[in-house]
Amino acid sequence: MAKYLITGVAGFIGSHLAHALVAHGHEVRGLDNFSTGLLRNLNGLSGRLELYETDLRDADGVCRACEGVDFILHQGALPSVPRSVKDPRTSHESNINGTFNLLEGARAAGVKRVVYAASSSAYGNQPGFPRRETMAPQPIAPYPVQKLTGELYMQSYWRVYGLETVCLRYFNIFGPRQVPDSPYSGVMAKFILQMMRGERPVIFGDGEQGRDFTYVENAVQANLLAMSAPADKVAGRVFNVACGERHTLNETYSVIAGLLGYTEPPQYGPERTGDVRDSLADVSAACEAFGYRPVVGFEEGLRRTVEWYREEHGGELDLNEDVAK
Ligand code: UD1
Repeated sequence: MAKYLITGVAGFIGSHLAHALVAHGHEVRGLDNFSTGLLRNLNGLSGRLELYETDLRDADGVCRACEGVDFILHQGALPSVPRSVKDPRTSHESNINGTFNLLEGARAAGVKRVVYAASSSAYGNQPGFPRRETMAPQPIAPYPVQKLTGELYMQSYWRVYGLETVCLRYFNIFGPRQVPDSPYSGVMAKFILQMMRGERPVIFGDGEQGRDFTYVENAVQANLLAMSAPADKVAGRVFNVACGERHTLNETYSVIAGLLGYTEPPQYGPERTGDVRDSLADVSAACEAFGYRPVVGFEEGLRRTVEWYREEHGGELDLNEDVAK
């Protein structure tokens, strides 16, 4: 039976992949250093997941985690554009050196394929929508530079060593288990928790910036399909993973507020350094190469996400009608 390694297994997307692979009956090993990942994200998997508490910066540890593995889903990274602006060295070391260590481990272990979590932020602020993989990347902040470097390494290892690699450029993935209360949290999770707590979220800029927000189940599907597609369709290639729709922050705010019955207007603050203005993907390449299609849309994804945060965090917040006032 094939064996999978998921890096960043206790993180938001990594844990969704772990649950999906285990549900499909696969043998799964997970690697995490628990710097941003949470053990509770793996609830229900005990005895069905082999866990390595290892930092991606530990080359020997990463090599050991790759031994005996057939496929790797490389989700482990220190995420966030603003975090990389504040502390570029730490995210550089995890995101670039960590990815290099992973590829070296995969090569030594004779791994069949690595699917890599790349980032839409690589496109930067250039004109031209929707974003297509044929556009030259123009990363702005350190984080997209690091993620793009990882892509280049992935492609190099395919061309030079014949290690099958596939890069999936995620567009603002959201859903259950995204950390909502860190300064580096994704905007959806952050706004949901703030509204549930009766706090007023701050929109950075005028709120007319747009994102191709993508529910996490779509990213899981994309990984599973990219993992099993014929090599001649996917190896050494880069694919957008998104819904192909742009939603502004003002609109997103209103939809979340509507779902939660929250009536306060947003506060507006200065634009965030390193942000891109807009983001919208063409997903036809992934569709053609491995049959990717978004399975859960923006509103349905938000509905499921809000429901999950209500169940998970509602009790601790004393959430009741008063909060929404
Ligand atoms: C970016 C990348 C994404 C990457 C992610 C990693 C783009 C298009 N996307 O997401 O591929 O995986 O980083 O972290 O570059 N905002 C507020 N108030 C808040 C928090 C955020 O207004 O309290 C705004 C931000 O200024 C931004 C938008 O919401 O305009 C989305 O921010 P965020 O959720 O952090 O994701 P990106 O930076 O877009």
